[in-house]
Amino acid sequence: MTPAPLSRSTNTAVVGLQWGDEGKGKIVDLLTSQHDVIVRYNGGANAGHTVEVGGERYALHLIPSGILNPGKLNVIGNGVVVDPEKLLEEMDRLRARGVCVGDNLKVSDRAHVVMPYHKEQDAALEEFLAGVASDERGSLAIGTTRRGIGPTYADKIQRSTAIRMGDLLDGAHLHDRLRVICRLRSAELKALGVNTEPLDPDALATKFAALGEQLKPNVTDTVYALHGALAQGKSLLFEGANACLLDIDHGTYPFVTSSNCSSLGIPPGTGVPGAHIHRILGIMKAYTSRVGAGPFPTELHDETGRLIRERGREYGTTTGRPRRVGWLDLVAVKYSAMICGATAVACTLLDVLTGFDELKVCTSYRMRDGSENDRFLPDARMLAQATPIYRSFLGWDEEIRDVADRASLPANAARYIEFIEEALNLPITMIGVGPDRRHTLVHA
Ligand code: GDP
Ligand code: IMO
Ligand code: MG
Repeated sequence: MTPAPLSRSTNTAVVGLQWGDEGKGKIVDLLTSQHDVIVRYNGGANAGHTVEVGGERYALHLIPSGILNPGKLNVIGNGVVVDPEKLLEEMDRLRARGVCVGDNLKVSDRAHVVMPYHKEQDAALEEFLAGVASDERGSLAIGTTRRGIGPTYADKIQRSTAIRMGDLLDGAHLHDRLRVICRLRSAELKALGVNTEPLDPDALATKFAALGEQLKPNVTDTVYALHGALAQGKSLLFEGANACLLDIDHGTYPFVTSSNCSSLGIPPGTGVPGAHIHRILGIMKAYTSRVGAGPFPTELHDETGRLIRERGREYGTTTGRPRRVGWLDLVAVKYSAMICGATAVACTLLDVLTGFDELKVCTSYRMRDGSENDRFLPDARMLAQATPIYRSFLGWDEEIRDVADRASLPANAARYIEFIEEALNLPITMIGVGPDRRHTLVHA
């Protein structure tokens, strides 16, 4: 089902309300027809957004999911961390499949660059933490995607050791910076136990200046480009990467990623003030999944969990890791909707729940001292102490992939959706009933 055209120029944000992989790519692709410019504001190649159209499956990592729709401008904003090699590979892969990638893709000159040593640091730190004798809470390793995300954002905050896309376009300046950075980084990597040759600033400068040259036609001041589009009455669609519970400030710290992936990250990550964002669509799965370490109160380790994983093809789009799965945690989703200021919700992968006799939804937590708590606990240590209190629902057996609209859903599926809507006090305006673009029930 295709969403109806909007009556005025409306800017929309699409954000994940759980721990990622809610189906943001599919929803962004679907909403692209209503917008002119699709904008990534956070994260990097840790994201894996799948879009399925007519049997073709595309996995987007750095490029906005709007790219499959011709005639739209796609922007990688200043808040994104860009691995130039990965970006060029992604551009080539799309072109090889007939997708136009040229002037329709702009990359901020202020986006920070993921360098090879960032990926080495990321992996080395994870290995180090996994190997350290753990306390009662287990290892401090985060289970990152090892795409160099944390170390690149750390350099951004540190400032003098950072490289931005614009720096790649000035070879002499890049070389100067790399001479200092490589000295520092070589010592740090050695301290982390990485046994590589000292980093070679000459080779790195040559390689990254060449990558910069290749990307030069795409690199620009995206802040002015976005404000120019707004001034012309064009509409923007912001594509969140990762998700609210992985937000560096509001997620399950420290088991989070290193950016503001909630909608709160849009203004700093694009230079577009929040007042320009008219609707915020929170994306949630009809159950919960998580990749990597960290507390997950409703996680299922049994046959039900295995079935959900297989039916939902819950294997990472970026790393291929099996995703941890569990029942829907509504305490968590309600919290994320509050943080993100969601104005409506899309509930995806409802079809995966077909065939279960009973479904459970967590509506509050039991704490270790016996108390009941209906607030989310955005701190890993606290959340690890919570056990879910469930409400049970009757399941349904009918396949729902080909239902035409929400009114045609089996009664128990409709009841499940209505319960979520009431609990969140938000309309569910899209329901995912299968992976393809057309497997989406759209209303309102
Ligand atoms: P994202 O990171 O939020 O864009 O989500 P991913 O693409 O990583 O993971 C979502 C997965 O679910 C992908 O394999 C999608 O093709 C698939 N998907 C999205 N919506 C639906 C749906 O409604 N039903 C089913 N069965 N699969 C879906
Ligand atoms: P999309 O956009 C699911 C998780 C990693 C790890 C933690 C930190 O596809 O929903 P990082 O490499 O960012 O330092 O890893 O965050 N993570 C994601 N999990 N989907 C994502 O993105 C994720 N991006 C990061 O698994 O636990
Ligand atoms: Mg994903």
